[in-house]
Amino acid sequence: QKLQMSLDQIEKGGYDHFMLKEIHEQPKAITDTFRGRMLHEEKIIKMSSIENHLDKFLNANRIIIVACGTSWHAGLVGEYLFEDMARIPVEVEYASEFRYRNPIITNKDVVIAISQSGETADTLAAIKLAKSKGAFVYGVCNVVGSSIARETHSGAYTHAGPEIGVASTKAFTTQITVLTLIAMKLGEANGSLAKHTFENYISKMQLIPRQVEELLKIDDKVKEIAEVYKDAKNCLYLGRGFNFPVALEGALKLKEISYIHAEGYPAAEMKHGPIALIDENMPIFVIATNRGHYEKVVSNIQEIKSRAGKIIAIVTEGDTTVKEIADHVIEIPDTEEALTPLLTTIPFQLLSYHIAVMLGKNVDQPRNLAKSVTVE
Ligand code: G6P
Repeated sequence: QKLQMSLDQIEKGGYDHFMLKEIHEQPKAITDTFRGRMLHEEKIIKMSSIENHLDKFLNANRIIIVACGTSWHAGLVGEYLFEDMARIPVEVEYASEFRYRNPIITNKDVVIAISQSGETADTLAAIKLAKSKGAFVYGVCNVVGSSIARETHSGAYTHAGPEIGVASTKAFTTQITVLTLIAMKLGEANGSLAKHTFENYISKMQLIPRQVEELLKIDDKVKEIAEVYKDAKNCLYLGRGFNFPVALEGALKLKEISYIHAEGYPAAEMKHGPIALIDENMPIFVIATNRGHYEKVVSNIQEIKSRAGKIIAIVTEGDTTVKEIADHVIEIPDTEEALTPLLTTIPFQLLSYHIAVMLGKNVDQPRNLAKSVTVE
């Protein structure tokens, strides 16, 4: 019998699409991002790209994160991480807006540019502008030797491996991983993170790849949910705190590959607009992890319920309250709230993937989108 496999099939490693392969590669990708940086036994974070420029970070008036698309969402998670762990003020900017609004930048600012491809034109232009005003520019890129990696003063690669699917998955979680390590490192260096808190984060981070692995096993359950909501015309994604950017990213994933209109919102902002859209045809995906403003999110869920919206909630394992109200729940393993984005993202990736497949869309190459946007 002749063994016949196309190059394409080999590249996809047995998965139907690159996106699914890349979703499943996340435990390894995150581990690769830790490698040589987070030394679990020694309980230290070693990042020479930060250590060699520590004074820049510790004396910075603020950190400005510039990025586009999914990388911008990772930047938003970064804002919550840096402010929480290192108490350094952060602003997150769309590179395309930043570059054209004559921003106020000085040599006391640190700019972090985040880009999977390292080639995004707007992000590259933002870097050049920041450099011309004297800022120190740090890059978080995936593609080694890319333009952004070369144009920055220092930086850290995400080590996610090649990402082929246009919808970013493992690049996003590894960007968050790098940002978490930097936030921890800076928090330790400036004393904002107590030693035991820092060490607790290291132990909890160490568990993340295995927890992602566990979470990937819920694929069948996500598929069932996808089957129920695949014909929706509009969806809403809600989250708070560290998981507000995850709501934005969840909505983006659905838009990108299934062409269903979706909006991400901070849960409490729902009452200022999106609540008007809620009826029995509206699926609402809510992140309600146990330590993140839990009671407040629960009351948001009750408001949705009383307007007949369909609720799909992401909760921490063992949750009982939300389970009683929601139409569907997806459980994530327990971790510190600051680390939950690395877990809550996973079900949303799988959900978008399954809906797009069920609708017969081109998952890896969605219409009108490019993997890397090298023009304005
Ligand atoms: C494109 C891609 C997105 C990506 C964005 C930014 O729109 O389709 O997946 O998030 O560009 O790309 P970058 O390579 O800078 O992260």
